[in-house]
Amino acid sequence: MPIVSGSNSRPLAVDLAAELGWRHVPLEARRFPDLEGYVRIPSEHIEAVRSSVEPVVLVSTTYPDNGIIETLLLLEAISDVREGKTDSLKGGGPEGLHPVGPGVILAIPYFGYSRQDKRFQAGEVVSAKAIGKLLAVRCDGIVFLDIHSESALEDLGVPVVFTSCMPEIAHYLQETVKPDFILSPDKGAIERASQVAEAIGCRFSYLEKTRIDAHTIVHAAKDLDVDGAIVTIVDDMIATGGTICRASEALISQGAVEVHAACAHGLFTGGAISRLDEFVNGVHAANSLQNPRAVISGGPALARGVRSLLDDSS
Ligand code: R5P
Repeated sequence: MPIVSGSNSRPLAVDLAAELGWRHVPLEARRFPDLEGYVRIPSEHIEAVRSSVEPVVLVSTTYPDNGIIETLLLLEAISDVREGKTDSLKGGGPEGLHPVGPGVILAIPYFGYSRQDKRFQAGEVVSAKAIGKLLAVRCDGIVFLDIHSESALEDLGVPVVFTSCMPEIAHYLQETVKPDFILSPDKGAIERASQVAEAIGCRFSYLEKTRIDAHTIVHAAKDLDVDGAIVTIVDDMIATGGTICRASEALISQGAVEVHAACAHGLFTGGAISRLDEFVNGVHAANSLQNPRAVISGGPALARGVRSLLDDSS
């Protein structure tokens, strides 16, 4: 089965293909000078995309916003090619292209809008569900990697699998940082961070966080018993870095000798990396997004998700 990718997730798509022992097929995805998106399945890869009776797997993120457009257009292009559609083709097209079977599974390394998983105020939209529904009508199933919250995405009308790279993050930390304490910086990350602590076999605790605004967060005071400890703060994503910096301050004030941060999704917005460098000894991210701290492959986790989706639907 082919694994295909556009412009935003190629290294991870290559990792996934290697993990599954399938072929990676690069698709064309770029932007016009006015920034509108353009995608195309190159002629030399049309047969590869039509070659399997099982669905093609597209690896594509929905971040930033142009990732949504690119993903939607790629899903449409793959379905058209697999259905043999050549209508509207300037100058006419190849004759006799028959449909080749079900279309496409979408594997999303980082799903943008996942944090708007409910209406926090009247009049808001549940953005995660709105974007999820747009994608779901164009594919036969979706694999989400380390989604912030599953609640808004459980009823999209196609099979959905949630997978996680926390086992790989735990393995990486054990080999490099060797933490003796894992901290969840808020209640939302407890399940993920405690899974890492359990895999490593080290102590664990969590903080209670209140977000005042996008750039200001406050943690409730708590005794953490980290005197002399090497601590890693584990979260699903790091955006501004504020959550990690504040948690690190609490840890250092209580005697931690080293503080690291690990996450599945390194968004690192607005100078986050240099801000983090002042507060932590190291930042370790999975490669759901491409950035200089993406040192852990999300390929094995996506492979587990794809296998699970295929097993469930067979
Ligand atoms: C929110 O609950 C998430 O799990 C992260 O903790 C949050 O998005 C991190 O954002 P920032 O790095 O801007 O503090």
